[in-house]
Amino acid sequence: MIKINENYLKLRASYLFSEIANRISTFQAAHPEKEIVKLGIGDVTQALPQACIEAFHRAVDEMANERTFKGYGPEQGYSFLREKIAAWDFQARGADIAADEIFISDGAKCDSGNIQEIFALETKIAIPDPVYPVYLDTNVMAGRTGKFNNGRYENILYLEGNLENGFIPNLPNEPVDLIYLCFPNNPTGAVITKNMLRNWVEFARENRALILYDAAYEAFIRDDKLPKSIYEVEGAREVAIEFRSFSKTAGFTGTRCAFTVVPKTCMAYDHDGNKYSLHALWNRRHSTKFNGVSYPVQRAAEAVYSREGWAQVQRLIQYYLKNASLIRREITDLGFECVGGKNSPYIWIDGQMDSWEFFDLLLEKAGVICTPGVGFGKCGEGFIRISAFNSYENVKKAMARIKDALTK
Ligand code: MLT
Repeated sequence: MIKINENYLKLRASYLFSEIANRISTFQAAHPEKEIVKLGIGDVTQALPQACIEAFHRAVDEMANERTFKGYGPEQGYSFLREKIAAWDFQARGADIAADEIFISDGAKCDSGNIQEIFALETKIAIPDPVYPVYLDTNVMAGRTGKFNNGRYENILYLEGNLENGFIPNLPNEPVDLIYLCFPNNPTGAVITKNMLRNWVEFARENRALILYDAAYEAFIRDDKLPKSIYEVEGAREVAIEFRSFSKTAGFTGTRCAFTVVPKTCMAYDHDGNKYSLHALWNRRHSTKFNGVSYPVQRAAEAVYSREGWAQVQRLIQYYLKNASLIRREITDLGFECVGGKNSPYIWIDGQMDSWEFFDLLLEKAGVICTPGVGFGKCGEGFIRISAFNSYENVKKAMARIKDALTK
């Protein structure tokens, strides 16, 4: 008899963004005349930068010619892309990362979800609350947690975020093996200073723990004093893996390209305390289960690291940040407390009511989609997240409608 992986039964009914999509479909079926503005899932709306498009076209043409055609590429990614990433994203900021420590992939969601496979089942995990649901759900599927009770899975150490700590959790008060961090944060938009990040790196070093650092939103950091990479902190090369993505940086959500950095100095241990290279383990996993990102997509991503491409990407980021600052201003004027929206495309708002109730109110009264905070964890209850990923016109329209709905 074929049996299921019963860990899946511990998961909550559906992935957050699928539940939101269901509610939107139900609403639209009942009110086909209502036009909806989507500020829920963080999905980009602006076209790919021109430099990426041109490189994409050129690479597609190469595939049409036997002399330049490409079959399977290296699973870890083409060196033309890995070298540019190492130089522009890391070495230029004083972070000592080499091209062969970078693994090109089709998404930070997949990588941050798959990475747990290389760690022991009994790994003690610390996860922020609120949090991007993928980190938690993939560990539930793997069987690292107990049951879901009262908004919490057993066997997880939750690192609580709230208005008092600015949604930057305190260090764990007990040893843990694996720590998930994300800055600029999804969902809260909170950012971390280099000094605070240094405390996490020191904690990991003292506990022989590992930090999984999700930096998918680093491109939104405008304050140059803030770290864009954990490797800007001394000592992080031994205790951190970093996830990055072209999705939000250059509008690749539908094009798919991301990367994970696993420094060769990053180690983990077997039951007897012997050290193993996580780079070798991840390389084994990646080359066994993944066949690489397509050549044209990697060429399109490479174009981000050209003078024109870089300037175009900066304009794109600035465009969404202008939306973010409009949302922040309007929401603050309406009397709500919020975080994020400054070096981040997300604004995290204390709605002072049940998250789903606020979601329904905005949907029904304003025709605006947000994301209910409780979908990111128990500490998200009472909050909603508004995303800046839409056109400026739509964001303006949404904010005017929200104002009407909440003040009339
Ligand atoms: C989000 O809205 O949180 C993100 O778009 C989800 C993702 O990047 O997978």
